[in-house]
Amino acid sequence: METKRVVITDREHIKDEELLEAAKILRTGGLVAFPTETVYGLGGNALDEEAAGKIYAAKGRPSDNPLIAHVSCTAELKPLVKEIPEAGRKLMEAFWPGPLTMIFPKSDRVPYGTTGGLDTVAVRMPNDAVANRLIALAGVPVAAPSANTSGRPSPTTADHVWQDMNGRIDMIIDGGAVGIGVESTIVDVSSDIPTVLRPGAITMEMLKEVLGEVAVDPAILGPVSAGMRPKAPGMKYKHYAPKADLTLVEPLRNGAELPENALDGCTVGLGSCQDLACARQPGMDEDGIRRMVDMVGRLAEKKAAEGLRTGIIGTDESIESYKSLKGIDSFLVRSIGARRSQESVAHNLYAVLREFDDLGVDVIFSESFSEDHLGQAIMNRLSKAAGYKIVRV
Ligand code: TXA
Ligand code: MG
Repeated sequence: METKRVVITDREHIKDEELLEAAKILRTGGLVAFPTETVYGLGGNALDEEAAGKIYAAKGRPSDNPLIAHVSCTAELKPLVKEIPEAGRKLMEAFWPGPLTMIFPKSDRVPYGTTGGLDTVAVRMPNDAVANRLIALAGVPVAAPSANTSGRPSPTTADHVWQDMNGRIDMIIDGGAVGIGVESTIVDVSSDIPTVLRPGAITMEMLKEVLGEVAVDPAILGPVSAGMRPKAPGMKYKHYAPKADLTLVEPLRNGAELPENALDGCTVGLGSCQDLACARQPGMDEDGIRRMVDMVGRLAEKKAAEGLRTGIIGTDESIESYKSLKGIDSFLVRSIGARRSQESVAHNLYAVLREFDDLGVDVIFSESFSEDHLGQAIMNRLSKAAGYKIVRV
């Protein structure tokens, strides 16, 4: 299949003519990738089971992993759901359009082919002018997972989508780089206590301010162990993963208890880590950051000395200190953004992981980040990309 590429010339003044062909493709069962404020989505008609089937095929995604239905206004939500619980109403008012997906009990109109067999449906109203206008013109809710091949980092530019989807879908709409860079926050409002299933730019702090009580699905905090069933089926898959072997380094609060095997690249998952009371509460004070940067450097030098092509993910603040390390090609030392700007880190995260894929590195060592605000989403994605291989210092 030939994939057509349409470039939006001026995002401030989008012309309907630029989107009409794409809207028609969506309406008639085809697939169109388009920008949203979070990541690029791979769209198809959410009410058409065959279109959903094509999405799974194009991504190589297991079909028990449900899709998010995207709408352009609240009126389009009603036909998709059985009811809109109070919490859902409040969150819609506070955060739609925006990077928030909510799980509702589904109506009969939504086929099981879209929801992976579940009786609930995920719905989001994106706050991106291209996405919003495209969905409105299509006249149908648009099912859209991230537009990457399953298992690869999500695409934040049209070129990323092109790498993964050229020849597999009808059209890619190039609206430039996305703003946020990590996928939407998912909140299940179909249960008694609203529960966060995936952290994103609508942060825990923001949700609590609107709802008061908010629960967190354990699957977002650590590796999914045998017998644990994450509420968002997608969270059980290895995800966001670069091809290289990625290890995170995280400072412990107050520099407590240096794990004995830290220098061997120990694997400390949450499950085996109860003795470290400070797990997941890293000490991102100056001293902790210094220890972390030092450890990233030592681990990288060790791997480079073994002859492995070794990459480093640092920050604007630390990047220079890595460039003089022994055996490290300074071209493989990348900044993921500024530590003082969580937004910049989220924005660059997937692009940096994809870059390392292109550079063919064997191993990557990365700094960690504090887990407040947007940091929770950043660390969720980085930890998953690392398969929870975390060295604590
Ligand atoms: O920011 C985003 O949400 C992007 C853009 C394109 O909107 N989309 C996205 O979709 O990230 P995807 O398919 O890559 O991730 C959707 C996640 C999966 O983990 C899936 O398991 C979960 O949402 N999900 C979808 N429907 C669900 C449901 N009914 N119940 C629980 N989890 C659901
Ligand atoms: Mg995805």
